[in-house]
Amino acid sequence: MSVTPAKVAVLASGRGSNLAALLDARARGELPVEFTLVGSDKADAGALRLAEAANIPTLALDPRSYPNRRAFDLDLLARVAASGAELLVLAGFMRVIDGEALRPWEGRIINIHPSLLPKYRGLHTHRRALEAGDAEHGASVHFVTAELDGGPVIAQVRLCIHATDDEQSLAERLLPLEHRLLPAVLSLLAERRLRWKEQAPWLDGKPLTAPLVLTGHGLQHAE
Ligand code: GRF
Repeated sequence: MSVTPAKVAVLASGRGSNLAALLDARARGELPVEFTLVGSDKADAGALRLAEAANIPTLALDPRSYPNRRAFDLDLLARVAASGAELLVLAGFMRVIDGEALRPWEGRIINIHPSLLPKYRGLHTHRRALEAGDAEHGASVHFVTAELDGGPVIAQVRLCIHATDDEQSLAERLLPLEHRLLPAVLSLLAERRLRWKEQAPWLDGKPLTAPLVLTGHGLQHAE
C-alpha cells in the first residue's frame, strides 16, 4: 500500500545513532517519511552533522539565550511546526518539554527511552537495572506528555541481563535493539495505523492494552 510520506522532525541532543537508524530505515524503503528538520539544544550534537550530511535542514537553539524553559520550548516547537512537520521524534533529546509547548503536539510526538518503562524514568537506566538485580532490561517508545518519560508506552524491546554485564556492555547490547524499535514504531505512526485517541495509543482502530513487543519478526502484540 503506498502512503503519502509523513513529514517528520527529529530532536536530539547527542551523537544521533537513533537518528542514523531512522535515516537508514528510510533509505531502505522501510519508513514512509520525509524529514523536515533535525533540531538540537546543543550546537555540537553529532545528530546535526548526520542531518547535514543527509541534506536535512538543521536547527540549533541555545536554551541559555531564553528567559526560561517555557520560552525556549515554545520557540523550538514553533520552529518545528514551521518546518511543516506533522510528527516529532525525540531521539536522545535530553530535556523535559514544557506542557504548554507540548499541547499542540499531543499524540504526534514520541520518545525513545532506554528502560522498560514504567521502570527507571530519567537517567542512568542501565546502572539502575543492574543495581536492582533485574533479569531483564530493554527500551521503550512512548507518546510524550509533560511528565518525564511518563507518557503511554507504545512498544518495547527486551533483552536478558547477563551475569557478566556492566553498564557499558548493557548499553552496547541494547543500542542496536533501540535502532530497530524506533523506526518500527515511527513507521506505524507514519502509515497512520498508530494513533492517539482518548489519551492512549490505538493500533488499527483498537486501543493497545499492552505495549507491542519487538521480536525477530517485527512488532507484535504482547502474549
Ligand atoms: C539512547 O539511548 C536513547 O534511548 C536515549 O538517549 C540515547 C540517545 O542516543 N533517549 P543517540 O544520540 O541516538 O545515539
